[in-house]
Amino acid sequence: YQWQPDMLSVGSEVRIAANFVTHAPPGEFNEVFNDVRLLLNNDNLLREGASHSFAQYNMDQFTPAKLEGYDEPVLITEHGDLGQGRFLDPRNCLAFRFDHLRKEVSDLQPYEEDTALRSWRDACDTSLSAYVKEHYPTGVCTVYGKTVDGQQTIIACIEGHQFQPKNFWNGRCRSEWKLTIGQSTAQVVGVLKIQVHYYEDGNVQLVSHKEVEESIPVTNESQTTKEFVDIIENAENDYQTAISENYQTMSDTTFKALRRQLPVTRTKIDWNKILSYKIGKEMQNA
Ligand SMILES: *[C@@H]1O[C@H](CO)[C@@H](O)[C@H](O)[C@H]1NC(C)=O
Repeated sequence: YQWQPDMLSVGSEVRIAANFVTHAPPGEFNEVFNDVRLLLNNDNLLREGASHSFAQYNMDQFTPAKLEGYDEPVLITEHGDLGQGRFLDPRNCLAFRFDHLRKEVSDLQPYEEDTALRSWRDACDTSLSAYVKEHYPTGVCTVYGKTVDGQQTIIACIEGHQFQPKNFWNGRCRSEWKLTIGQSTAQVVGVLKIQVHYYEDGNVQLVSHKEVEESIPVTNESQTTKEFVDIIENAENDYQTAISENYQTMSDTTFKALRRQLPVTRTKIDWNKILSYKIGKEMQNA
């Protein structure tokens, strides 16, 4: 056994760089990547040692990918990971290569998925897309139909973001919903996440997450997926309202004066309300 201090420290530098990249705030991958690139000063090493982290970041963040010739983006998620840098677009039955650094799609090919769940997937995608269009200003959803541990499962992923670097904040909502279809009932499990990074004077991150579990009767595809989407809609409204109201309480006095100027609605994600805590604090300092 030979002690090789140089190699060890290089290895741990790459690990630290990879770890930074994986935890980049929403919309700030490039900034963090450029910083660690400067720190490490070895592009080949970074590409070799951290490329797994670039992929992990895009999958964790539900990064939307634009497919040439298709209107709706598809989300990069672990559920669509086909291996070897390829991902699935279940809506259009396509597989493609994704460049995790440039966020570019290439090599589109037809891809036939598990057809047993095709009609369930399609029914869910139709209802969910209508909801996401209504609720998120720039929302994207991707719905997968899979057999997981021998059970027919629909997995719905939703992403909505606002990147406002000129105003020193970036935010992203993500949710992942699973519908496990049994004989007469279906289990619904959801995880909702909101992450906002403010960095005007200081560096504050709001990172919040919530889990939801329910069950619904299985009737037919259109009815059951509609009930599934109703649960999603209610849970996301409750969660986003709770987060903005929590912020509202914390900055109550100042917020009262502002309330009339801010749009108040329960049917859309309202980044203004989520940001109101920050606005309130700024007013107090003024
Ligand atoms: C699905 O089930 C609901 C509720 O049982 C029923 O009202 C509806 O007509 C059914 N639709 C189809 C297409 O069978």
